[in-house]
Amino acid sequence: MLDQGTVAPDTTAPTPKSSVLSALTRRKPVERLVAEGGQGEGGSLRRSLSMWQLTMISIGATLGTGIFVVLGESVPKAGPAVTLAFVFAGLTALFSALSYAELAGTIPVAGSSYSYAYATMGELVAWVCGWCLLLEYGVSVAAVAVGWGDYLNQLLDGTLGVTLPTALSAPPGDGGIFNLPALIVVVLAMMFLLGGAKESARANTIMVLVKIASLVLFCAIGFMGFKSGNYSDFMPLGIGSVGAAGAILFFSYIGFDAASTAGEEAENPKRDLPRAIMLSLVIVTVLYVLVAAVAVGAWDWRKFAGSEATLTAIMNDVTGQGFWGTLLAGGAVISIASVVLTVLYGQTRILFAMSRDGLVPKVFGKVHPTSGTPRVNTVIVSLFCGVLAAAVPLGKLVSATSIGTLFAFALVNIAVVVLRRNRPEMDRTFKVPFGPLFPVLGFAFCAYSMYTLDVDTWIVFGAWMAVGLVFYAVYGIRRSRLASAEK
Ligand code: ALA
Repeated sequence: MLDQGTVAPDTTAPTPKSSVLSALTRRKPVERLVAEGGQGEGGSLRRSLSMWQLTMISIGATLGTGIFVVLGESVPKAGPAVTLAFVFAGLTALFSALSYAELAGTIPVAGSSYSYAYATMGELVAWVCGWCLLLEYGVSVAAVAVGWGDYLNQLLDGTLGVTLPTALSAPPGDGGIFNLPALIVVVLAMMFLLGGAKESARANTIMVLVKIASLVLFCAIGFMGFKSGNYSDFMPLGIGSVGAAGAILFFSYIGFDAASTAGEEAENPKRDLPRAIMLSLVIVTVLYVLVAAVAVGAWDWRKFAGSEATLTAIMNDVTGQGFWGTLLAGGAVISIASVVLTVLYGQTRILFAMSRDGLVPKVFGKVHPTSGTPRVNTVIVSLFCGVLAAAVPLGKLVSATSIGTLFAFALVNIAVVVLRRNRPEMDRTFKVPFGPLFPVLGFAFCAYSMYTLDVDTWIVFGAWMAVGLVFYAVYGIRRSRLASAEK
């Protein structure tokens, strides 16, 4: 085993001796994970992010399409009990967030759950987790970018009286040719990220403040149209509908873990990461429940069916003026852009960590000497996500984002229990209370939410995992740096 502070030689030559069995069992020692922190090909990442900025990264990645778009789609599924569905989804996220907080404080590295799995459950599980994170981050960037285009059109309509033609605002298969706004928002986010982590974090903080202000404004105005009669039948579709809506709404909580991908750029990761993760989840949950409660109080739940851009429509209805809806659309445009920025950030850092381990090509691990960021990685990931968003009708892949995330979260809950058993002596700046009960509950919530997702989503997920395992079998298993070190 390597001493702390020692980094393995960069031997990426294929290793014929590698076998599935050794891939299953080889684990990356926590000390080595931490010692390698920040180091990339040709340079190091910079530690520049404060606890406040880390919190904003997590809120930035979380608060977006879920509340501005998915809420409207979930109300017809659960009625006013959508508020309860948010609480249910929040609980699923809460137990997993506690587990993330413990592991981020113990193993503060860029790979997030991928690295936690590598340290506790071995390389194959880590790879599976990393592959799921591609769904959570990479594919959700594309999905979120599409939602951004919808709100941009509303903003253009409300301010200039024009909208982009469908040909330029939807991909082939969805009635258009190319979704230009989706590509634009990803490219804009890329420019910030190329500038540096601190610069991106500053821009993100401003955007997050705008989005919180937008939602508070919605609550204030929506509350003026509150009718208690809208709550007379709180659960019109039964308790099962709450679980089903909760599984869909889980999408709106995806991203609280984004701070954990900044483990190698945080000023004081062991102290700040657990705080940032928990604080962001609390702020986001309170906002979600408030916004949902006001929305179903202002509008009869049946009115949501088939309605687009619900929050802006409610604003317009309550005030009788288009101005407020347009203002909210402007807030949504900024809000959703910050999701794209922070989720893209997370994706590049996860690939950075995977590349350092040899499981994906080296190019993802190169650090630019002046900006201290993985620039080539950022350009590749951004262009990939931008084109995916612009040219592919994402359809089922979007719900696969939730299942992939739930799978990764389930693994993080297991990782907490395994690490407590294997390394009880480690310095943990944050400990999940009532462990192992809470991690087990976190696992159970994730498993249940996965179970409630439809068969098509499972098929897409199965196909995605099959592709990932084939990639690992032909590439990662042979090029793993841990495998090379074992020889
Ligand atoms: N939670 C993120 C959103 O709702 C993905 O946009």
